[in-house]
Parts: sequence; structure tokens; C-alpha cells
Amino acid sequence: MFVAPLIQRKRDGQALEPAEWTSLIRAYAAGTVPDYQMSAMLMAVLFQGLEDSELGALTDAMLRSGARLEFGPDVPPRIDKHSTGGVGDKVSLVLAPLVASVGVAVPMMSGRGLGHTGGTLDKLEAIPGFRTSLTLDRATAQVERIGCALFGQTEQIAPADRRLYALRDATGTVESIPLIATSIMSKKLAEGLNGLVLDVKTGPGAFLQELDESLDLARTMIRLGKERGCPTVALLTAMDRPLGMACGNALETAEAIAILRGEGPADVREVTLALGAEMLVLGEIEPDTATARRRLERALESGAGLETFRIIIEAQGGDPRVVEDMNRLPRAGAVVPVEASSDGYVTSIAPRPVGRAIAELGGGRARIEDTIDPSVGVVLRVKPGDQVTTGDAMAEVHARDPESARRVLSLMQAVMPVSDTPPPPLPPLISHRVTDHGVEVLSG
Ligand code: URA
Repeated sequence: MFVAPLIQRKRDGQALEPAEWTSLIRAYAAGTVPDYQMSAMLMAVLFQGLEDSELGALTDAMLRSGARLEFGPDVPPRIDKHSTGGVGDKVSLVLAPLVASVGVAVPMMSGRGLGHTGGTLDKLEAIPGFRTSLTLDRATAQVERIGCALFGQTEQIAPADRRLYALRDATGTVESIPLIATSIMSKKLAEGLNGLVLDVKTGPGAFLQELDESLDLARTMIRLGKERGCPTVALLTAMDRPLGMACGNALETAEAIAILRGEGPADVREVTLALGAEMLVLGEIEPDTATARRRLERALESGAGLETFRIIIEAQGGDPRVVEDMNRLPRAGAVVPVEASSDGYVTSIAPRPVGRAIAELGGGRARIEDTIDPSVGVVLRVKPGDQVTTGDAMAEVHARDPESARRVLSLMQAVMPVSDTPPPPLPPLISHRVTDHGVEVLSG
């Protein structure tokens, strides 16, 4: 295949024919297009974008490069959630079992943390014994049996995206709305879904930091989903501060269990209930989000969501006793407080440096093949706007040893500045709801 003329046309702002995208991706997946040509094409897309027909063709070609989950006729509606990633985002660990406990099937394929963002697979693997590498047959059978499987992308799912994503990571071509949208949707559509809910993070800790970019990404993915028979809804949620209090793998897993027990921070619970309500409506389990939310609240109160999480952990080889005894999760060797150095108000808690502090402690990775320490991280004790007095513990650093804790203490102090005057109110936690009918601005 002659790739150079395609690169030149894309570089010059022309659209390629759908059949050209199909052939290009097929040839790349087969190993007959070299990475250097594909890198040039990705850079051309980053600058020139993709037209609607190209977006669809690229998504379909990546989807067809691998297998799909296929379910029998008696399986309940399959609905998944995807988050574009942030710091402290442990929502999937709460949401998947909670929604499955009320009768929606959740085949949730997730990723690992990279850069400053965490990943669901790493949080799950903090549970002793938990296996996230399921074959597609095993994941399908588990969804049919217990309503949920939490697993990683295998070689079988959208292998073209797997290679392309690694290439984008190495060539500065991740931050492209059409490339992000086609990458995410090709994998999600392979799950055999009846509907998809997107948590599009917005703000300085998100992949895309500007509101209009987040809205554009949401609309693009919604259109791709709808055209392929997978109704898709998006909520835009704030990533100008970490979500919840715990940041770091085992610490976040513990916080997720706390929420399933009816405890835990209000913001994580709120985002979980809002996304879950959309999932129940898409699955036609409830007629509207208000009724759906009440149903999920009851499943939290009754412990049904926690019990489903226990069953999932057991099915995937993990120690189910963690749901009663969180001390079974890995624990860091040293816990050191981050103290307020003056009286005043916490003005902000920037998520990216918190994510970097976790990586510095050994809990995140710079490259996908890096190994991580699940026990380390940071637990916040305050939110932006809270009042503190000198010496108050604003956070705890959980580190391998006191020396590595000390290395991030000054970083954490800088991340949580204290000032005499209270900061302006935080932007809403859930700011917009996007459907194929348009954008609704939400108040909270
Ligand atoms: N997540 C993905 O799966 N793909 C992207 O391109 C970005 C985030």
C-alpha cells in the first residue's frame, strides 16, 4: 500500500476516503505499514482533524481489527461507563458493582494509570490476588453469571488501537479529539454494549483542559456511539481538584469500599450516583434519572452494591475479605502529615501535581511497562475553601519509608496553598449533560 500520498493529502487538509482508512488500519495492524509512516499520519490528523466520514471509518476499522464480546439473548442490557481520567477517580470500583446489583450488566474494560492519572486496573490489583487479565470468553461468561466483569484490554480487543495508542504516547499525538474519540469508542463498542455513559473530565487535571474541548470530545463520542447503535450520554465533571480524598491505588480502593458501605466522601458518591442513574435509564431499568438515583441509593443502603463487589472480587481470584477488613489491602510503611504552615483558607488543590507526587512515591508510571507500588499515595484531609490553622494536617503522605515521604512533603505543601482570604466557590462538580439532543448546563 502507498501510504505517503495519503499522509500528504491529510497533511494538506483533505479528507481521506473511508475505504482508505480501512485499508490503512488493516495494513498497519498486519504490520505492513511502518511506525514512522503511521506517526506522520497521526501528526497530520492532530493538526488537520478528521471529517465525520473519516471518524466513523477509523473507528470501525479499529473495532474490526479485533474481536467483540457477544452475549446470549437472556443477558440483561449491557451498559458501561468510561472516564477520560483524572486524579482520585475511583468511581468505576463503586459504580460497576452498584449498577450490576440492580440488574444492569456491566462488562467494564478499563485501563492502567499513565502520567498523572490513575487507572482502574491498578486500583483493582491492589486487592490481593485480584486478576484483571481475563480472556474474552471468561469475561463474557462472568458477565452472564454475575452481571459484571472488570478486566483489561487484551490483544483480542481493538489491537490496532493498542498499537496506535502506544505510538501516540511516544510521538506527542495523544491530545487530539478525533484520535481520543476513535480510540475510546473502538474499544467500548467491542464490549457488545446497549448503551454507554461517558464521564468527561474537564479542568486543569483532565486530558483536555478547556470546556469547549471537553464538550467537543463528548459530542464526537456520542455521535460515533449513536451511529453504531450504542446510545451514549456524557456528563462533564470537574477535574480542577482531586475527586474524593484518597489518591493512590490501595487508598482509593479503600475509599471505594467505604462508599459501597454508605460512608466515604460526598463528591465521589455524587458522581457515582449521577453516572449510575444515566446507566439505569439507558438500560431501560428505570424511566428517569431521579427514580434511578433513588434505586441506587437504596442499593448502597442495603449493602447490595458491596455484596456484588465481594462476589466480583471472589470471581476474579481476589481476597473478598477486603470488603469487611480494609487492613487486608497493602499498607505503606510510613504515614507523614502535610501540615499547614499558616492560618487561613486552602485556596486550591491542583490535581496534576498530586498525581505527580503519587508517581514520585512509586504509585504511578511514566511508561506503561513500569511496575508500581499499590500502597503509596496521598490522603487529603481538606478540600479547597476549608479553613486551617497552623500545624493542622491538611493531608497524609503514605510512602514506602520516611525518606521518600519527606521527598514529596514540600511538593504537597506547594500544591495546597493557604491564604488569608477564602477562594471563590469551586465550579460545579457536574457541570453539563450532553446527549444527542444537545447540551444541558447543570447547576451542581
Ligand atoms: N483513553 C483512550 O483509550 N484513548 C485515548 O486516546 C485517550 C484516553
